[in-house]
Amino acid sequence: MKLFRDGDGNAEPLWREEVSIHAADERYVSRRQFAKFLVLTSLAMFVGNLWILVKSWLARKPVYPARPVARTGEIPVGGVRLFNYPGPNDPCILVRTSETEVVAYSQKCTHLSCAVYYSKENDRIECPCHEGYFSVRTGDVLQGPPERPLPRVVLEQRGDQLIAVGMDLGRGPQGGKEARHA
Ligand code: FES
Repeated sequence: MKLFRDGDGNAEPLWREEVSIHAADERYVSRRQFAKFLVLTSLAMFVGNLWILVKSWLARKPVYPARPVARTGEIPVGGVRLFNYPGPNDPCILVRTSETEVVAYSQKCTHLSCAVYYSKENDRIECPCHEGYFSVRTGDVLQGPPERPLPRVVLEQRGDQLIAVGMDLGRGPQGGKEARHA
């Protein structure tokens, strides 16, 4: 049998060094295991929270395609172009409000999703279902039951093409401004 010397110099079987039989040592091992458990649990919770944070950050930043929706010269002032963006079932409306400015919005009314249209006579976007009216320049609600502005399509001009590059759902820094083109 293999032996080892304890603190007092007594020879003890080796298994006594491996397996503690003293209550104090057992408590010490328990505390150490408990501390290890706490560290591992904290680490797991930290990694879990980090994962949730990354997922919610990615969810808040949807990736939109860049899609040509019109040429600058082909729509007269007061004219309209209907298109789908970002998906094939997301109808949108583009309105040329002046020689140099165009705006585009989701065509779904923010009340109950009826299709809105541009009223040239009233120079506003109107919803036929419950007489909800929106500003053609900002998409903000002018009147009626809708409580939220129309989501705005972010446009960029590249050459003579107007390209949809994103959706402004919450009125970011460019919200309320019209896209200018030459
Ligand atoms: S659905 Fe547009 S005002 Fe009700």
